[in-house]
Amino acid sequence: MSKLFISCALPYANGPCHLGHLRSTYIPADIYARYNRMNGVDTVMVCATDEHGTPIAVRAEQENISPKDITDKYHELIGNDLKSCNISLDSFRRTTDKIHYEMAQEFFKELYEKGYIYEKTIDQLYCDTCQRSLPDRYVEGTCPHCESEGARGDQCEVCGRHLDPTELVEPHCLICDGTPHVQQSEQYYFKLHEFDEPLKKWINENDKLPKNVKNFAKEWVNEGLKDWIMTRDMNWGIPVPLEDSEGKVLYVWAEAFIGYQSSANTWATEHGLDWKSYWDDKTVHFIGKDIIYHHTIFWPSMLMGRDIKLPYSVIGGGYLSLEGRKMSTSKGWVIWVKDFIDKFDSDLLRYYMVINAPLNKDTDFSWDDFQRRINNELTDNLGNYIHRTFTFTHKFFDGKIPEPGEYNEEDKEFERKIKELPDKVAECIENFEFRDGLQEIMNLTKSANKYFDVKKPWKAVKEDEASARTCLYLSNQLVHALSIILTPYLPEATQKIREVIGMPTEVVDGFTNFEDRIPNVNWEEAKEFLEAGHEIKKAKPLFKKIEDKIIEEEKEKLYALDETEEEDENMSDLISIDEFAKVDLVVGQIKEAEKIEGSKKLLRVQVDIGDEIRQVVAGIAEKYEPEDLIDRKVIVVANLQPAKLFGVESNGMLLATDSVELLTTEGNVGEHIK
Ligand code: 2FM
Ligand code: ZN
Repeated sequence: MSKLFISCALPYANGPCHLGHLRSTYIPADIYARYNRMNGVDTVMVCATDEHGTPIAVRAEQENISPKDITDKYHELIGNDLKSCNISLDSFRRTTDKIHYEMAQEFFKELYEKGYIYEKTIDQLYCDTCQRSLPDRYVEGTCPHCESEGARGDQCEVCGRHLDPTELVEPHCLICDGTPHVQQSEQYYFKLHEFDEPLKKWINENDKLPKNVKNFAKEWVNEGLKDWIMTRDMNWGIPVPLEDSEGKVLYVWAEAFIGYQSSANTWATEHGLDWKSYWDDKTVHFIGKDIIYHHTIFWPSMLMGRDIKLPYSVIGGGYLSLEGRKMSTSKGWVIWVKDFIDKFDSDLLRYYMVINAPLNKDTDFSWDDFQRRINNELTDNLGNYIHRTFTFTHKFFDGKIPEPGEYNEEDKEFERKIKELPDKVAECIENFEFRDGLQEIMNLTKSANKYFDVKKPWKAVKEDEASARTCLYLSNQLVHALSIILTPYLPEATQKIREVIGMPTEVVDGFTNFEDRIPNVNWEEAKEFLEAGHEIKKAKPLFKKIEDKIIEEEKEKLYALDETEEEDENMSDLISIDEFAKVDLVVGQIKEAEKIEGSKKLLRVQVDIGDEIRQVVAGIAEKYEPEDLIDRKVIVVANLQPAKLFGVESNGMLLATDSVELLTTEGNVGEHIK
């Protein structure tokens, strides 16, 4: 039996989970895990809380509590958040576990003994009042690049640049507000540059790395790699396991990855298994795209240093914005998982977060769009189809799947689609294209509803009974197939369906119990048909529509928290060159264009921008006929936050003048404009 090791990025234990975490990492990982388990792959899915690092240490000092008090609290809250969304982790541990300390120290020690880690004297900030050095976030000051105040020792939030504390202008200690001075200290560095070539090879030759991950990684290795500092002078963390290194701990990023292995190790030991056999078979890391660098540069190099097998793939989920704006936990512009799950079933969240956009793209959570998709797609399309199938089976056939009559062309076509669906969805999931898999399912239920409308079994039952029987026979087969292939996406709803159709169900209660980790149903069963005569229980509708009132309340709550936003806006009309450089302009060629129903101004256009076809909604319908646009070269703003206009998703903008003249260019498709 093949084995699979799935890891989910370790959340820092200093705050609960918000929807962005679920969207980028945990829901996709869970879909992949559930799918593989149903295919007989012996799977372990792990996570843990990331409990070290300066943000937690600084906060603890400021609140006069121990860092462990903070991480105890959030380990529990985060665990509950993940459970509430049915993320079926086999193991959810902590980087403060003893075994984690041991494994992290062993990892460091071996790299040191093999000569991959060396000592170097560097300048650091030191606070005399506190009598300690000030790494990373212990210090703030003015950013040397953009001159904004309040830049942290590791990064300036305003211009986004990574910083070293000694680069800060007018630095001050975050604990006592004193002015630190520069002092020399010995730290341990990892010889990252030695892995230049093998990393390039791994990145270039690994066809399992998704394009977004690969492109980032390639750019970084091509820029050349600098050695990496692996230690800090502070006491919250894992002590450096070498003599004469008192007061030094491992940098949080030098040990967090090992949390994947230590969490798996704890689980495996409890059950008499060997975690390494899972790792060595196939390992997939699910992360958010902000930590692609860490997982394609630092971590593989560390693994190579110890001759440990490199991951099969690293899946980097895009960012989630909220109502068109960047999420900000400090400004309250965020939806916490707990608040969401108090109101809505987790399957609704899972559905919306997957169908909303491909995983590698940034996307937006909007309350109106959430309501629209749940009501129109999940309730009206999927839920309604299942419900009418059950209801008619009861009304006309005593709750038993009827014997089919002779198939006509429509029936044959429908049967073919049902039989093809499991493989189509499987292929998408195996390629980490979770949205495409779900879209396949939704497309088929849409055409199944049409099939039902055309067959009119309520009428046919009187005029052409055989045709009604065939319709209900096939519809029940599709429902049966859905109860299996939708399980990775909607684990709760599918178990309700399976109960109605009297098939074995899975335990769905958050984390996976060891004894329940082998599912009761296999993916391949989705291709099998239930026998005519099979009994169906009476069912209630699976999904309910979300009322406008509920959505209005949620929006009010969110916007009420956000009163300060306007004051934060930059009042100046001038932008810096850095701000301008953030705009990604690319040459595109229009491949398709069509009017948007109900809008006089908008066109939906599909633009080839080199490595993908982008859908953009453009306000140019009053000036251009769709057919006149085909093959025209245009300039596309490629990194605009996604938006919905007239319910149509727009992923970018076409540049045009005030009088709606499109800017055109002679450039090559896919070229970026500098
Ligand atoms: O960026 C973060 O939230 C980190 N806590 C992720 C760590 S993932 C891994 F390496 F452990
Ligand atoms: Zn101080």
